Amino acid sequence: MDRAPGWSVRLKLTLSYVGFLMLAGALLLAAVWVFLLRYVPDGWPGLLGKSPNRYLLLSTFAPAAAIVLAFLLVFGLVGGWILAGRMLAPLTRITDATRMAANGSLSHRIRLAGREDEFRELADAFDTMLARLEAHVAEQQRFAANASHELRTPLAISQSLLDVARNDPAHDHGELVDRLYAVNARAIDLTEALLVLSRADRRSFTRESVDLSLLVDEATETLLPLAEKRGVAVDTSTDVTPAVGSHALLLQMTTNLVHNAIVHNLPERGTVWVTTGVRPETVVLTVENTGERLTPQVVSTLTEPFQRGAGRIRGDHAGVGLGLAIVKSIVHVHDGSLTIAPRPAGGLRIVVHLPSPWSGTA
Ligand SMILES: Nc1ncnc2c1ncn2[C@@H]1O[C@H](COP(=O)(O)OP(=O)(O)O)[C@@H](O)[C@H]1O
Ligand SMILES: [Mg+2]
Repeated sequence: MDRAPGWSVRLKLTLSYVGFLMLAGALLLAAVWVFLLRYVPDGWPGLLGKSPNRYLLLSTFAPAAAIVLAFLLVFGLVGGWILAGRMLAPLTRITDATRMAANGSLSHRIRLAGREDEFRELADAFDTMLARLEAHVAEQQRFAANASHELRTPLAISQSLLDVARNDPAHDHGELVDRLYAVNARAIDLTEALLVLSRADRRSFTRESVDLSLLVDEATETLLPLAEKRGVAVDTSTDVTPAVGSHALLLQMTTNLVHNAIVHNLPERGTVWVTTGVRPETVVLTVENTGERLTPQVVSTLTEPFQRGAGRIRGDHAGVGLGLAIVKSIVHVHDGSLTIAPRPAGGLRIVVHLPSPWSGTA
């Protein structure tokens, strides 16, 4: 591996190991030396007089001490090098995995075996991060593929309408224009929904004080003609419900929820209940409606982009399937939570919790 000149961690660890070993060795030898001076009697065999005695003692001791130190040096260097190498081996694997991830291979995992230690923790955390990234990238790719497909559909329909008109000049142009208009409107709806979704995802909005009950009034007022046309009664019960966030996005969220509650309702005599309120830590918006019975499995997929339930074919409402994905995204960027549950009698109950402006999290 090419590394810029400098001391590798392995070398540094080896040198500190050697350093400590030499220091400990030297201290030990010094202790032995002091011990010899003190306790070896003057009449040590073959030694005469005090000064020559000490001198001779030193000259016998010093070479032995030097040999011991030299041995410790070699031993420390070799042992330290091997030990440091073994200790740092997991780091090499983690570095390799990082390089692979940087080159775009997210499917690789380190899967470090062995005891739970700091390296293992790092490797596991890294694996978790890779798994999340991989899932996120796959989701983005799926989204892009779905979005392209959805965008191509109206264009392909326009194309075939135009083909028919060209090959049959006697064709009724009024009808053609009407159908082209409808297809075009749908393409615009879809593009606008995609733009809203990307804007919501970016978190680049200014936070202002909003009152959820006013948003509900605004949304229901706009949607009342639609509700009347479909014979759906809209029942609102709202208190002043202050929240903090983007007025435009929260209005979009409320509108999407009430719109869904109206169009995915019973064919006749449907009802929608909208409430807002303040809880100790959060503020709540609830939208509930009658409708077809839905299973929890179906309900759990509804917030995925382009997921449409059974109502897709029925009725004149052909949604683009992004309404709930947009709601989820808006709730997410406002640090709120979204709960979607089927009602036992049919239809849905959707609850949005947003942080209260007075709680610490807002
Ligand atoms: N309030 C609701 N009641 C019953 N079904 C709903 C409700 N809201 C959403 N759905 C189901 O979830 C699907 C996805 O909703 P959405 O993302 O808004 O897409 P769209 O409304 O464009 O179909 C809808 O097709 C519908 O089947
Ligand atoms: Mg919708």
